[in-house]
Amino acid sequence: AYENLSDISDRLLRALPPVLTVGHEEWDSPIVPLLENEMVKDEPGQAAVLDRLLDLLLTAVLKAWFGKKDTSSPEWWRYQGDRVVGLPPGFAATARTTNAPTVAFEDPERKIYALQFHPEVSHTLSGNRMLKNFLQVCGARGDWKMAAFIDEAVADIRRRVDGQGILCAISGGVDSSVMAALVERAVGEKLTAVFVDNGLLRQGEAARVVRSLRRGLGLNVVAVDARREFLAALDGIHDPEVKRRIIGRMFITVFERAAETVEGAAFLAQGTLYPDAIDTIPVKGPSATIKTHHNVGGLPEKLGFELVEPLRFLFKDEVRELGRALGLPAELLNRHPFPGPGLAVRVVGAVTWARLETLRQADAILIGELRAAGWYERVAQAFAVSLPVQSVGVMGDGRTYDFACALRAVTSVDGMTADYYPFTHEFLGETATRIINEVKGINRVTYDITSKPPGTIEWE
Ligand code: XMP
Repeated sequence: AYENLSDISDRLLRALPPVLTVGHEEWDSPIVPLLENEMVKDEPGQAAVLDRLLDLLLTAVLKAWFGKKDTSSPEWWRYQGDRVVGLPPGFAATARTTNAPTVAFEDPERKIYALQFHPEVSHTLSGNRMLKNFLQVCGARGDWKMAAFIDEAVADIRRRVDGQGILCAISGGVDSSVMAALVERAVGEKLTAVFVDNGLLRQGEAARVVRSLRRGLGLNVVAVDARREFLAALDGIHDPEVKRRIIGRMFITVFERAAETVEGAAFLAQGTLYPDAIDTIPVKGPSATIKTHHNVGGLPEKLGFELVEPLRFLFKDEVRELGRALGLPAELLNRHPFPGPGLAVRVVGAVTWARLETLRQADAILIGELRAAGWYERVAQAFAVSLPVQSVGVMGDGRTYDFACALRAVTSVDGMTADYYPFTHEFLGETATRIINEVKGINRVTYDITSKPPGTIEWE
């Protein structure tokens, strides 16, 4: 049935508006049938070693094979496996590598452009410019502004909600704050935001979040103190995945209870972003399983509310831009991500209030030093981890037998891979000294220099 695939493909491409095809993997590009006789198989390892071009999903594998150095600077990532050596009629090559004579080609007449690498991955140099050039070919003017998005989203939310009550959960993080600010602009006091203090937050965080949302954003906030309940549910639990499940379930219970106190709410607004939205579509490959746990801390769709997800088509950087346009403070918009299960996944082993308090103090010293050095925004995430390890130390004239803590700071574009941050010895030394002197119960500080992979960002 597919004998004339290349014919069909040719006709399809002619009929379409301007086309940019990316990758040449068999399953996603209409250009592939035209290349039937032009593809040769790569020798094993050839594409990866000589061209240093690869698909994003393979970053993790590549890193494990070749170490940090060889993979941090590839300029193009070619799909490993097939090499295009010739051209279909009517096309001219526009880029080559040492190893493949045709990694980009085009027919400007028919407005068909083909790239055998991914301009959209952050490792591709000038990838954005390539996409921009293509959009110009399509006649796009590029004059869209965030203000236009706000107007559209506000109108859309008003239309859907139609004067009824709307609820949301807020964590103090970027996504839920921006979402709440946007919905508030649309429906004003019809929005009620529920904030759950699960006892697993950073030092001073609960009070700060509630204050900034109430005063700063003028939100209706229902603040729930559920610290005891969460702690009781986590009592004696060591397994990180069990901790996550307990916290996820507990959050839903507490939220539902709070929701019942809000009259007339028919809608639930959530800060789902585009990457989360596409993550819920099953995809082949390891990324599906790697990311499953990242949604802990969310609410299920079956709560009996109609969902409103105004950020569903935005990426993280666009959410920050939206936040700026809505007038949210930079301090909030530039915050490091914080996991839904909070400090429970940074207390290795059993979670107790005493360990949480100790961790909060050490963590606050690290973050304070980071801000004082002006480096907070250079790292993607920084935090302290409480270790269930006791060791001997000397303090004044006496011996101590206290706990160790680890400091972690990473740079990362998307959380899927990460490098440890190369702090100066001076910074590490001063921070460690402060922690040991000021935090009772910690007598040893280590710095985690593991990249992801093979490590993860969190310890649990
Ligand atoms: P890992 O530790 O897997 O983390 O390298 C990658 C990113 O995800 C965050 N993370 C979580 N976020 N619920 C969340 O909401 C979770 O259970 C969870 N576990 C990890 C982590 O902070 C990092 O940004």
